[in-house]
Amino acid sequence: MTITIDQIPCQATEGEFVLNVARRNRIFIPALCYISGCSPTLACRLCLVDVDGKRAYACNAKAKEGMNVITKTEEIEAERKAIMQVYDINHPLECGVCDQSGECELQNYTLEMGVDHQAFAIQDTHRPAKTWGKIHYDPSLCIVCERCITVCKDKIGEAALKTVPRGGEPLDKEWKEKVPKDAFAMWNKLQKSLIGPTQGETLSCTFCGECTAVCPVGALVGTDFQYRANAWELTRIPASNPHSSDCALLYYEVRHKSIQHPQETIYRVTNDIHFGTLSGAARYGYDFENTVVTKDQEAFKSVVHALQSGELKTVRFNSFITNEEAFILQKLKEKLGLRLVNPDAKAYQDFLAGFASASGKSLYGATLETLAQSDFIVSVGTALKTDAPNAGYALNNALTMNKGAGIYFHPVPDVVVSGYSKNMLSVTHKVGSEEAVLMWLLGRFGREMPASIANMLEGFLVKGTKEVSEVVKEVVTETVVDEATGESKEVEKSVTKTVTKTVEVTQNTLWETMGVEDLDESIQKLLEKKERFSLIAGEDLYAHPRAKELSKLLGLIARYTPFEVMLIPSQTNTLGVALLCELDEVKEGKVLGYNEKGDIVLSALGKGTLDMPALNQQEGTFTNMDKRVVPTNVALPYHGYCLNDVASALGIQAALTVDYTEQLPQDKGYEARPFDTLPNCFANDGTQLRGYCLHVSECTPKEELSPLHVSALDESLVYRANPVHQFSPFTNKAHQLNEAGALYVSLAFLEAKGWKDGQMVKLTNKEGHTLVVAMKADPLWEGMIPYLPTFDTKLETAPFFTGYRFAQVTFEGVSHE
Ligand code: SF4
Ligand code: SF4
Ligand code: FES
Repeated sequence: MTITIDQIPCQATEGEFVLNVARRNRIFIPALCYISGCSPTLACRLCLVDVDGKRAYACNAKAKEGMNVITKTEEIEAERKAIMQVYDINHPLECGVCDQSGECELQNYTLEMGVDHQAFAIQDTHRPAKTWGKIHYDPSLCIVCERCITVCKDKIGEAALKTVPRGGEPLDKEWKEKVPKDAFAMWNKLQKSLIGPTQGETLSCTFCGECTAVCPVGALVGTDFQYRANAWELTRIPASNPHSSDCALLYYEVRHKSIQHPQETIYRVTNDIHFGTLSGAARYGYDFENTVVTKDQEAFKSVVHALQSGELKTVRFNSFITNEEAFILQKLKEKLGLRLVNPDAKAYQDFLAGFASASGKSLYGATLETLAQSDFIVSVGTALKTDAPNAGYALNNALTMNKGAGIYFHPVPDVVVSGYSKNMLSVTHKVGSEEAVLMWLLGRFGREMPASIANMLEGFLVKGTKEVSEVVKEVVTETVVDEATGESKEVEKSVTKTVTKTVEVTQNTLWETMGVEDLDESIQKLLEKKERFSLIAGEDLYAHPRAKELSKLLGLIARYTPFEVMLIPSQTNTLGVALLCELDEVKEGKVLGYNEKGDIVLSALGKGTLDMPALNQQEGTFTNMDKRVVPTNVALPYHGYCLNDVASALGIQAALTVDYTEQLPQDKGYEARPFDTLPNCFANDGTQLRGYCLHVSECTPKEELSPLHVSALDESLVYRANPVHQFSPFTNKAHQLNEAGALYVSLAFLEAKGWKDGQMVKLTNKEGHTLVVAMKADPLWEGMIPYLPTFDTKLETAPFFTGYRFAQVTFEGVSHE
């Protein structure tokens, strides 16, 4: 459809807000409270426009064919100016020290609207500042735009903030006559409220920090950042989240430390608040750089010699590396005959191959954008909140904004995910029964499947009976006495009553295999009017004892059901490594560890034979969960050797690591694009201008389905997972995220065992591995399966998880005496 804004014809889609149409067409409409992708709150009223002669708010007015919008009239401008005057009432004049000064939307709009004096006044209210852990709230700066509340509810999914009473004086009636209509309404509301935690006195959320990012003034800031730097002194360096596979666009904000210490320091991380979200790890885990000051020539020579002489036969590494580094490792393999061992990426590589063989496509289809646009999302095999926070945010955004519904299949219930919406069904199935979950999905949603597959799935259906209650109408005869005549007569009357009857039903035995009650009926209700389906699958499946069968099942789901599937890569660049490296199953000979244990170690953590740059010190690209090749830039200088130096000394020559960006293999979907041509931003309409998308190739799919085989585990178990801000030793190195690993347990677990938070416990597995570790209560964790992390290098948790993420252990309390 076409609408006209300030005489400019603009294309719009059904239901699109006028503000978004204007932004896409680069037409400026002031707006303080609206955030793209969230519901309008109508708190600021600055976006007041004239629509076909009537006042309307551009953030809330939906485009209609032929609509005529005027963004500025004398009346509108007077209203906007008065709104800004109201916002400036009793706003402290502390811009000189305020953290937002220089990028403050209150400052900007005050100037933009030409506010040069204050015509309104009211007695101020005492509003003391508060610190909620990583977040600092200064109510005296708060303009109650509600952006923080909205983003937490509509994007992040925690609804951890709400408006609370301000305790301010009511407005004098005389102001109603003197102040323009919208400015008065806004003032009236402003005078009544502040923001506060939804429950209790302090925030108890996952601390993603998105509320601080969206705050247009200096009211919500990172506690750590408060009063440390001014916005105008900081240089913004676009990069990509180095900690997990969303590789979200972020900006490292950098400045010299002080006159005495001129070294560059990252002061904070920011993001594009309209089109991106950041997890807490991405936001707070920024200072993990390697501070080595010189090139250690001796160590360098010894590493090169050990590789050249054939002393080292294996490189063991993880996927917290760039595509270019993975490509160099592959070149080293080809030249020196090394084995490349990366169990996480190998499991994913094999899984992807199985998926491709059944789906007929080299890669899965979904992206975070697909998830956010869906109205029915299923998650299987991932502790979503901690494995892939941004996928969780996209899921919540879909539930909230698209009136969506979803199912969270996992052996451990999640209070945060199930809190996204009342239409989010949590199915807590038996550990190890993921194959039954996928079979159920294929059977329930599969269309036009080959007969052999359809028949096998039908085999799970059995005819049975069940008791149902039904309300029926019955005609009864009653004797009534006519009051006038005293005569008795019989009358017929219709009454309702509830009867129980036995009906024939088709039941799916897969529910029993999952260990849960039959949920077909509840799911049928959730499915009403749903049209856009996405499926998130995760790390629990990749190293599953039945991973091969699961990968094919997911391929069949992608092929025969309406679901767009996403296979969440488990580490930052697992997908890139899986595409770029020929990986080996087991090591051979001496091992060169790259950020992993080995006989010789290259370490960006600064703990090895030879130092390497950390990911905030490198130029390069990642292949993210959207199958997009995204660039990351150098935020901090590095003074040691890098992997490219080692490769160059071995005859694999390149001046810079990023010289390899354009050489990434095209048969794996990469493009011959030089690093410097890769953009890293969002366009005005939210289009991702970030690197490029991998090309997907097609192959002939195999249509086979192995018979179901589930061996569920129901003894005492532990799960491999990290707490919400941790992904690796790199997140843990950051000063705001530094913590000791523990056995993370639910409050219910502590209560059932009669143990206390902080108490030591001994874990023993079947092979006799033991670990004595402190327990830490995680209030956001539920159920009786605790989790063991991988981020703390001091905790030897790897022996417990040789494959699957769930392991059988015994727990034994250790007394302090
Ligand atoms: S804290 Fe910031 S984002 Fe939240 S209501 Fe106040 S001004 Fe708006
Ligand atoms: S930190 Fe994140 S989860 Fe917590 S209140 Fe802010 S937006 Fe919500
Ligand atoms: S942006 Fe529309 S009311 Fe604030």
